[in-house]
Amino acid sequence: MIKADNQILVIFGASGDLTGRKLLPSLYELFLRGLLPDRLVILGASRTAYTDEEFREQQRNHLLPSVQKKNLDEATLDNFLKHVYYVAFNSSDTTEYPTLKKRLKELREQEDLPDKVVYYLATPPSMYEVIPQCLKDNRMHRAADKTGYRRIVVEKPFGTSYESARALNEHLRSIFKEEEIYRIDHYLGKETVQNILVLRFSNGIFEPLWNRNYIDSIEISAAETLGVEKRGGYYDTVGAMKDMIQNHLMQLMSFVAMESPSVFDPEPIRDEIVKVFRAVRHYEKWEMDDMVVRGQYEGYRKEENVNPNSETETYVGMKFFIDNWRWSGVPFYFFTGKKLPAKTSEVIINFRSTPHTLFVGQCSGGSCNRLVIRIQPDESITLRFGLKMPGAGFKVKQVGMDFRYDSLASASLPDAYERLLLDAMLGDSTLYARSDALEASWKFIDPILQHWKNKGVEGLFPYEPGSNGPKETFRLGATPDSDCGCHF
Ligand code: BG6
Repeated sequence: MIKADNQILVIFGASGDLTGRKLLPSLYELFLRGLLPDRLVILGASRTAYTDEEFREQQRNHLLPSVQKKNLDEATLDNFLKHVYYVAFNSSDTTEYPTLKKRLKELREQEDLPDKVVYYLATPPSMYEVIPQCLKDNRMHRAADKTGYRRIVVEKPFGTSYESARALNEHLRSIFKEEEIYRIDHYLGKETVQNILVLRFSNGIFEPLWNRNYIDSIEISAAETLGVEKRGGYYDTVGAMKDMIQNHLMQLMSFVAMESPSVFDPEPIRDEIVKVFRAVRHYEKWEMDDMVVRGQYEGYRKEENVNPNSETETYVGMKFFIDNWRWSGVPFYFFTGKKLPAKTSEVIINFRSTPHTLFVGQCSGGSCNRLVIRIQPDESITLRFGLKMPGAGFKVKQVGMDFRYDSLASASLPDAYERLLLDAMLGDSTLYARSDALEASWKFIDPILQHWKNKGVEGLFPYEPGSNGPKETFRLGATPDSDCGCHF
């Protein structure tokens, strides 16, 4: 395994939730697996006044439960925490950046590090323009020479519309080079999502079937049982379309629908992703209500920090087409929502059924032969087909042939952030979104959001928590599972 060069990782917004919940635990896992650089400094930066020791102690408390659960040695945790430092300063004030600059210089000298720095913005989106600008004002956006580098990792949401995403891209590119900008989408860090590329492009058996001639429809879903919990303030300004579809599900779809790149390198792969996004057919105004269904779970408006008259959708079901040679005429579906019956993310490839029915009980319709790629939980791949029931006659029953990740010897799947953090330190942008792809996805989503804005609550359907979402979803005509008649 290649190790990243010795470097400094600066986490802006280090006292926030993401750092304790995802970033530090992922870095710790990488440390346990020997994948971190030998000399790495993780420098937390935010406004709260902590000393290095206080910050380490806070992170230790976050990490300790999982260390104890896995029966790991606490001394190893302490060794990891020796890599962690902290600097308190106000990242929205350009005059305070010399404090950060000085600290970086001291740590570089102390640890004998090259001039290699990755900035990670784990901050509210309002800081995505401010921090790069301040870094530039203080000449911290470039390494002194070509032996060093600066990279910047930006969390989602990346913009709130095509225009804002374009403006943000322009701003970032006026400071950093495109190859230095890493726009994170944690879905692409998931093993099961990356495996879609391997499943498709390393197995000769799927490719001949992976097109309009044999595929009836494709469903991509991400359902959650939880509501908005403590994130009402954020969620109420975005809704399911911007929170899940514009980024995670669109990226997932691109892996399912793209052509094979000629080589497995970041740019050829990202070129193929953009082509898919550009081929997605934009809706005509008149068809929007038939093709996109939005819902809001009952009780959402009473959630903490949610507007009591909120028009924000917590559920979206949509049908769309990709106008290219491979996918012409094949309906694609996205389903996502909060307070649904199960927490599951899946890609379902529904193959066309046989042209003629011969047997008793033989399944017909578009969900008889389906390849179900379970992204999470119970990560697995299942192929469903008809089997003759043992005994007299020819009675057919649908059965599944399974591969489950937990059957592998090295069963534990790394968290998405582990892979993505490591890639940013290694300089591999394959699993990060490129600016043109993001802009193309916003171009598809923008008119829908505009349409909803014009309609207000009209067409925002309520649904009961724990149900399958609003019943109006059935107007999309997706093929429910032949066993349960459900989508989740
Ligand atoms: C985040 C969204 O990006 O993804 C959350 O902001 C959502 O609202 C989460 O719950 C889902 O991620 P996962 O990995 O649990 O499917």
